[in-house]
Amino acid sequence: MKAGLEDVIAGESGICYIDGEKGILAYRGYDIHELAPNSTFEETSHLLWFGRLPNVAELKDTSDKMAASRALPPEVIALMKALPKDAAPMDVLRTAISACSMYDSEAKDMSPEANLRKAIRLNARCATIVTAFHSIRNGNEPLAPRSDLTHAGNFYYMLTGNEPNSTIVKALDVALILHADHELNASTFAARVTAATLSDIYSAVTSATGALKGPLHGGANEEVMRMLLKIGEPSNVDAFVHDLFAQKKKIAGFGHRVYHTEDPRATHLRRMSKEACERAGQGKWFEMSERIEEIVKKEKKINPNVDFYSASTYYVIGMPIDLFTPFFAVSRMSGWTAHILEQYANNRLIRPRAEYIGPAPDLKWTPVAQR
Ligand code: COA
Repeated sequence: MKAGLEDVIAGESGICYIDGEKGILAYRGYDIHELAPNSTFEETSHLLWFGRLPNVAELKDTSDKMAASRALPPEVIALMKALPKDAAPMDVLRTAISACSMYDSEAKDMSPEANLRKAIRLNARCATIVTAFHSIRNGNEPLAPRSDLTHAGNFYYMLTGNEPNSTIVKALDVALILHADHELNASTFAARVTAATLSDIYSAVTSATGALKGPLHGGANEEVMRMLLKIGEPSNVDAFVHDLFAQKKKIAGFGHRVYHTEDPRATHLRRMSKEACERAGQGKWFEMSERIEEIVKKEKKINPNVDFYSASTYYVIGMPIDLFTPFFAVSRMSGWTAHILEQYANNRLIRPRAEYIGPAPDLKWTPVAQR
């Protein structure tokens, strides 16, 4: 028995390749280092769903369908308005994604064509849910999504109300590409387990959203930024990190179940963090992050993961900290839905066994008064 199913092969998939020793991550055969500088989130989503890069007409079709699907059912906006303003955005996202199924006329249609259409809708709407709730909690009416902007550009526009500039859009787009899929990570596995019961795609992504929220998974990026804010200044880094070591606490944004070398996504995010922090005149967050990395690598031999440098990148772009993990979901929705479609296409119920460690099964029941 492997605790936490470490290194256990739990299924076949043609979507994502990871070599944890060499630090390789590829979607459908394309190395992340090829995709990050060259692709877009729309193109990467198409690649994940269809298994190959789109031609011009196919890319336009997928992009148009995503842009046309951004608006939320008014009932879902009304539901979000009824939720507590201080609700955690990941809880709101989980609830709103689930609620969307009730206003989708195709919700019960399990044909591959309908499931693909729902995948595209979910991928488009996840961004709208996150940004709409941010407006609602600030007492504002959510902005209508714009179909003339890319997915990344529209996310920024709906979040801030500002016209997106190309530098910020590129940074968000690269972050979306880097987070889009990661094989059988905890949330994708949760999605596949739910899909394998032949439950619907909305139920499967709702399971995934719940799994992503945890601080050992997607929630780590928020923890990283809270840690940086607590440290405050570069001169405090050494003492802070050594104090965490002394308390045997984990450092958020470090370590990975699969990578035993640098997480290839962190390579891009480190550069993005440096550029974004310097551009924003807030270089200290990068400086502190770099120093933390230096200490943790030297003293614990542990590398930063995808969540470490994304935190400071998002922060200086102006993203509220509690939207970091929801933004991860905005991206991972593409991978979740690709895995769900793959699961449906060749399904068998996922039902492992447990190694039983309880009492021998020969106990006799006694009346409650005699216990
Ligand atoms: N800081 C300090 N030590 C860490 C660490 C971290 N972030 N991550 C792992 N370690 C240490 C553990 O203490 C353990 O040491 P030990 O063997 O001396 O007890 C060893 O490395 C193995 O850690 P473990 O928690 O068993 O690894 P895992 O494969 O179960 O967990 C993570 C992987 C990602 C959950 C884990 O590294 C972690 O909790 N990281 C912080 C949260 C995070 O960034 N999550 C996002 C992942 S993308």
